[in-house]
Amino acid sequence: MSMTFDEKTRSASNFFNNKGRCQDDCLIIIFGGSGDLAKRKLFPSLGHLTSKKLLPERFKIIAVGRKPMEIGELLSMGKYPPGFEKNFQYVQTDYSPEGIRKLKETCEEICRETGIAPNYLFYLAIPPNGYAEVAKALKNGGMVHPAKSRNWCRLVVEKPYGRDIESATVLNESLLSCFTEKQIYRIDHYLGKEAVQNLLVFRFANSVFEAIWNHHYVEHVQISHSEVLGAEDRADYFDQSGLLRDMIQNHLMQIFCLVTMEAPVSLSADAIRDEKVKVLRSLRPLDLGGKSPAAVRGQYGPGLVNGKPVRGYRDEKGVKPDSSTETFVAMRMNIDNFRWSGVPFYLRSGKRLGRKGTEVVVTFKKTPKILFNSKSGSMNSNRIVFKIQPQEAILLELTTKNPGQSFELTDTSMNFCYNDHFDASADAYERLLLDAVLGDPTLFVRSDETELSWKYLDPLLKQWAATPMGDRFPSYPAGSEGPAEASDVLLKSGEDAAQWIDFSKYDNVCAPEETIPVSEPDKAPAAKT
Ligand code: BG6
Repeated sequence: MSMTFDEKTRSASNFFNNKGRCQDDCLIIIFGGSGDLAKRKLFPSLGHLTSKKLLPERFKIIAVGRKPMEIGELLSMGKYPPGFEKNFQYVQTDYSPEGIRKLKETCEEICRETGIAPNYLFYLAIPPNGYAEVAKALKNGGMVHPAKSRNWCRLVVEKPYGRDIESATVLNESLLSCFTEKQIYRIDHYLGKEAVQNLLVFRFANSVFEAIWNHHYVEHVQISHSEVLGAEDRADYFDQSGLLRDMIQNHLMQIFCLVTMEAPVSLSADAIRDEKVKVLRSLRPLDLGGKSPAAVRGQYGPGLVNGKPVRGYRDEKGVKPDSSTETFVAMRMNIDNFRWSGVPFYLRSGKRLGRKGTEVVVTFKKTPKILFNSKSGSMNSNRIVFKIQPQEAILLELTTKNPGQSFELTDTSMNFCYNDHFDASADAYERLLLDAVLGDPTLFVRSDETELSWKYLDPLLKQWAATPMGDRFPSYPAGSEGPAEASDVLLKSGEDAAQWIDFSKYDNVCAPEETIPVSEPDKAPAAKT
């Protein structure tokens, strides 16, 4: 029988007490407590964790915001267990010294009245230009416990951490002048996704794959992410940021590191991060001037999404009418190390495409074409496909003999769909919030990782900033596969030049959760093994 998420979590972690709950009482203090992220993701995740009795026996959630707010409105976007509000408080204050003094008094009063130990988890769900200010205010206000004190404090920071190498370095320095590195938890919610974490298990717990996970066997790798959504109501942020900063520097590069890193010496947070850092250090600088550009950008124009007409990016509210902000990026990366020398990694991500999904596709080199020639049918490359979302799956694409007299070849696939075997996985925020309360930083990003990825992308950011796109944008219609120029990053040399795999190629390999086939004739639900 498969274990549920909370049973698995409890049985796997050293951080729980003998009742299966987090060891330490704490206050979870969420700055930006009246904002969208808090209402949509953080509070509902805390609600689930409360229902599952995974949070400490004594805790309190303190939402901090500048606006007056009703608790009913703050908790309007999730399902909460009965009595959840008893552990929930809204504190209206700003981040000035007086504001932080008020917060500190409230926290101390709660701890006095409830007996909760003053362990503080600060969560910055605020615009990034406020991070340094709040960290400093907390430090000056005496809310940051020294690293070795009896009670702990941790700072969870949302992305973006800076917008280029200079600002990321300054931000890291500011945060590190108030908190130690071990106290800072930089969130990348992709690391909280079950299928992303499984990349490590797949690679390092299955001996059949490790031997072929290198330049001798792998021809190229594609990491693709596509979204149906456009700028939506985040245009103010997105138009300043662009897709490279919003998706590639963090989420896709984290996936890339997990696919390419060496085996860590242990599963400790630092051992894993050390290996990610080694990959980032081995990246070959992006070739920005060569014949085949290492990166191209695109921007959506008007089009049809799910059959409905949608406006182009430049017509979105909050976007400059001549904006050169990219909503699509395709790029080619190379790692100059022993394992990956000569293997191109292609990354692509775009907004307002035809479907939502994230996949990693590892394409292997073909066997020599001595035995099976084209008359026998196609002999395609083997591929391993990791479907990260919306469905979670791993596929192995094979060439097989068509039954019959002749050696005719056909493509087949062995599919492992998570929902055939496991219950639905927890939301990434739920997983990461619990890890932060537990004090497990493994799935958070260390300062050197962020700095190295910014450093790598910096020349590209500068080049793009210096070359506005004018009437070359928009370059793809909403609802499409992205701009034709995406193919420019694919290396053309050799007989088997890479092609982008259609975004939706693997969309229907698993039955969606709600339509798992029922067995005939009695229509009993399909058993999970
Ligand atoms: C966020 C980006 O970090 O990730 C958004 O800021 C993007 O622009 C989102 O839409 C995608 O996350 P997911 O989990 O929906 O793939």
